[in-house]
Amino acid sequence: MTGISHPVPDAFESVTDVIEKLAAHGYIADRRLAITVYLLFRLGKPVLLEGPAGVGKTELAKVLAAATGRRLLRLQCYEGQDESRALYEWDYGKQLLYTQLLREKISEIVADAPDLAAAVERIGDQDGVFFSDRFLSPRPVLEAIRSREPAVLLIDEIDRADEALEAVLLECLDEYQVSVPEIGTYVAAVPPCVVLTSNNTRDLSAALKRRCLHMFLDYPDAERELEIVRSKHTGLPDALAAQLVGVVRELRGLRLRKSPGISETVDWARALAVLGAAELDAQLLMETANVVLKYERDLKRALEALPHLVPGGRAAPAEEGAAHDPRRAPSPAHTHANGHTHADEPDGRAVRAAMDQLGRHEVGYRLPSGPSAAEPHRDGRSGQGQRAFSAAVRRRAR
Ligand SMILES: Nc1ncnc2c1ncn2[C@@H]1O[C@H](COP(=O)(O)OP(=O)(O)O)[C@@H](O)[C@H]1O
Ligand SMILES: [Mg+2]
Repeated sequence: MTGISHPVPDAFESVTDVIEKLAAHGYIADRRLAITVYLLFRLGKPVLLEGPAGVGKTELAKVLAAATGRRLLRLQCYEGQDESRALYEWDYGKQLLYTQLLREKISEIVADAPDLAAAVERIGDQDGVFFSDRFLSPRPVLEAIRSREPAVLLIDEIDRADEALEAVLLECLDEYQVSVPEIGTYVAAVPPCVVLTSNNTRDLSAALKRRCLHMFLDYPDAERELEIVRSKHTGLPDALAAQLVGVVRELRGLRLRKSPGISETVDWARALAVLGAAELDAQLLMETANVVLKYERDLKRALEALPHLVPGGRAAPAEEGAAHDPRRAPSPAHTHANGHTHADEPDGRAVRAAMDQLGRHEVGYRLPSGPSAAEPHRDGRSGQGQRAFSAAVRRRAR
């Protein structure tokens, strides 16, 4: 699918090859994920990775770039992002500089204009000079499309952005092309490998999902998580790492605002290793739980539960009586082996679903039918400035 004009070693030969090459770059993938990655390259489709924070979504894109020798271009999404700027920007500074330098030439053009309207008309005729490739600053999406080398385009945490961004991206995801109304359409000579990630704080549009291979990346099973921790050379003895993985998985079963991700397990292992832990007792875990839990309420819940999560923990000394209240501490028996709770105990996914109800994105928001379809424009063209303006008006109106 790629590399016609710029051959690169074909990315992956097989699913096993995916697992091996990712592992060589420090990423432990299970077979299900490896199949998705393999298909992503073979079918040339974008992939959408959804799942809780800290399960390796962003890391996968980085490692894919490293493992295939491709350049990584990353669009980090955020709330209130100007959707058109995700694609490109006009270099206003450069445009201004050129108009200053060309002042005399511009004066000549309008010198014999009979009135203001005629002068404006003549300047307008020169639009094409200033809205041309020379003054275009490509943002990651357009850069990936224009790239002459194969690239990995990471569109990270798209759920943070407004839905309008999804609409703007559809053309790129569909056709590997980006239209700049003033110039024309850029079509990728070498289609980038596109990875979108979402932390699942809101539902993404069906239109976006339809265009992507989809994968829900959940917390790994204990075996793979231990393998990941091992691969990070944390310095924590294997037996303790295995125990720690078990504890973290139990913590994920609590009603935490932010469940610990894989990176937190790794951080905790490192912290315990630095402290020279010879065994994992409740007290040591409680003393270091702040390494992985960043909200006070989460920490409190964890401190209540931890004495019940390690052998002999119940007898461990507790701080301020926090661990003395067994009423709120979930028994491990309430938690499935995979770290998920029963249906009556909301797990992370249920909490995220609840967050969806909070309406980060206003009710009745309408997706524009295309990047420029909704805007009035002169000469059949509409520019980024107009789109940026309408986006700003929309935001102000909220
Ligand atoms: N499968 C994996 N193999 C190796 N390390 C991983 C894996 N998954 C996650 N990690 C580690 O966890 C960290 C956090 O992952 P990240 O990709 O930032 O999570 P997400 O984007 O899903 O929130 C990474 O920097 C990496 O060190
Ligand atoms: Mg991420």
